[in-house]
Amino acid sequence: MDLNALLQSMTMKEKIGQLTQCTAELFLQTDAAATGPREAIGLPKEMLPLVGSVLNFANAEEMCAIQRAHLEADRLKIPMLFMMDVIHGYRTIFPIPLAMGCSMDPSLMDDCSQMAAKEAAASGVHVTFTPMADQCRDARWGRIMETTGEDPLLNEWMGKAQVWGFQGTTRDNTDLRSPDTLAACVKHFAGYGAVEAGRDYNTVELSERTLRETHFPAYKACIDAGARMVMTSFSAVDGLPAVANPWLMKTVLKEEMGFDGVVISDYDAIRELTVHGVAADLKEAARLAFSNGCDIEMCSAAYALHLEALVNDGVLSEADIDNAVMRVLRLKEELGLFDDPYRAVDPQREDAVCTDPAHRVLAREAAEKTAVLLKNNGILPFSKEVKRVALIGPFAENHAILGFWSCRGREEESVTVRQGVEALLPYAEVTAVRGCGNTVGDVDRSGFDEAVKAASEADVVILCLGEPSHYSGEGNSRVDIALPGVQEALAEAVIEANPQTAVVLFNGRPLAVPRLKETAPAILEMWFPGSEGGSAAARLLFGEVNPSAKLAVTVPRCVGQCPISYRYASTGRPKTIAHGYQPFRSNYLDEEITPLWPFGYGLSYSRFVYESLRLETDTLRCGERLMVTLVLRNDSDREGTETVQAYIRDLHASVTRPTQQLMWFSKVTLPPHQRITLKIPVEESDLCFFDREMRYVAEAGTFELFVGYADHPVHAVQFRLE
Ligand code: NOJ
Repeated sequence: MDLNALLQSMTMKEKIGQLTQCTAELFLQTDAAATGPREAIGLPKEMLPLVGSVLNFANAEEMCAIQRAHLEADRLKIPMLFMMDVIHGYRTIFPIPLAMGCSMDPSLMDDCSQMAAKEAAASGVHVTFTPMADQCRDARWGRIMETTGEDPLLNEWMGKAQVWGFQGTTRDNTDLRSPDTLAACVKHFAGYGAVEAGRDYNTVELSERTLRETHFPAYKACIDAGARMVMTSFSAVDGLPAVANPWLMKTVLKEEMGFDGVVISDYDAIRELTVHGVAADLKEAARLAFSNGCDIEMCSAAYALHLEALVNDGVLSEADIDNAVMRVLRLKEELGLFDDPYRAVDPQREDAVCTDPAHRVLAREAAEKTAVLLKNNGILPFSKEVKRVALIGPFAENHAILGFWSCRGREEESVTVRQGVEALLPYAEVTAVRGCGNTVGDVDRSGFDEAVKAASEADVVILCLGEPSHYSGEGNSRVDIALPGVQEALAEAVIEANPQTAVVLFNGRPLAVPRLKETAPAILEMWFPGSEGGSAAARLLFGEVNPSAKLAVTVPRCVGQCPISYRYASTGRPKTIAHGYQPFRSNYLDEEITPLWPFGYGLSYSRFVYESLRLETDTLRCGERLMVTLVLRNDSDREGTETVQAYIRDLHASVTRPTQQLMWFSKVTLPPHQRITLKIPVEESDLCFFDREMRYVAEAGTFELFVGYADHPVHAVQFRLE
């Protein structure tokens, strides 16, 4: 397709149509019925046939109907782009991104993303609003479930893996014409994960240094991995909503990061500039967003109503409009839409692709690799020979374990814990008792007696607790991050009745459960594990598979510790005693500063021993590489997988540095009683940070490297950078 010729032939209105996105419902209804939604966003009637992209739709048939009707009406026959939030699966649902972060396994993330892309493409999706590369340290924020954790390095790797997976990238080759791919849109640029007080859509206050050091790298990694689109954040950073923030959008995104793909606003965010109070009206909102580089307006009509006038007034140039339109047309061309506007979509094949049993196998594997064993006093794994199993709690028979962004996933198709246990132990007698609800207001204890009775009559108890899935995700912030309702009380009663009780948690955010940590014999954190959650839980509890995930996020003791991260900077008055309050030190009167469970923590049924951490030389010279070797031994009778983590600390620098920062991680599977020597490479680039003058440099001096997990060095060495 000669895109330049096409652009030349377009009227201004047609160009602006390419820069406007609407939801599917606007295209689906009769003219009279469409008046509601269309008028709700204020889109002029004559613009509807010119709109260039669609947000959300039901299925392949609907997508085809919308595309067909559009192409029949459109003078230039420019196909529309169809976009959707394919976040952790399409119909087959994988664990939520926070759980995927805990796998610390980018190749697993790549595989899951590939399968999600395949399903979504068969339904007609072209662009997914993934990865969310936002970094978050606050469990109150419901969207923490969409992050891959709190660590910049982990987020970089996981973000890249998503882009590669969705876009089908192999050895640097991306072919978006391939029917199994989607274009990836990294979001929410930038800093959205740091909303004040964990309240969604709230203001973000971050220093330039923090933004550059801990927030930008993951977005940048996704852009470098080839993400074709970037979505702006809802939040104001340094007083300016991202979509109208020239420093973020022009200086950082375009100039420094070199992003030359399509920029899209978040939903209604351009109109919301008037609500933020930084634009007097929609016309000013359109000017601010467009002149700061936002190409497509999602679900408001400031562009449709005002861009033409802004060009006519000489405020915006037609050349800039052309450049924005060209970016959109190029993406359509790259996806092959001019040759085949229906691309991979296939209403006949859609169901078969989406229900491919191989996808469920991967979903189960992913759920197994993302569940974190938080506590085990030795009762786990349970024996498969048990006769009577009691499943207790609001998640025992609950299908609602898919997680907030479960796209076209169907709850009824998810495997409950009960179904998982029954499939694994066909001869066991399984009883299930709900015991209580899982919402905040649900304080009914009338089911406790039945639960206690079932627990006391069983050989083992699986106590399935957690938050409803809609307590996390977009718009769902909480001030209390405890288990909702009376679940903790149920837990106490059940554990007292039968000490062979393992707690299984389903939740989208870290939950502060200090009492449960004390009383529960074992705790398995499943997060929202997706379609195969119940089978994965059963296989983990009964030892078919060995838990291997590590926390990608710090779990606080209480909400008052939020925001909290393992990567805290040094202070002048660190606490120097292990427990209790220390006057005039950086700590709390009424709570420890340590978390309930730290970043990088997670148990296994194997016992791993870290031996002899050694430096090949104790000096790293600029441009060279220092090798650190570590011997890892599996000191148990079970094969297991360990995630080896290396952390670094710069002992003296021109600005304060984190007391520990993840520098390297690797997953190693070891047969029983085997050992392996691992090599951990350290390069100058691993030691860089933004110095006083905001230059990204490594400063000569002494560094400490330790292996273990956050706040828990097993072995440490020091070396010098010269
Ligand atoms: C708003 C959310 O912030 C964003 O992440 C999502 O992609 C859009 N809505 C579209 O659904």
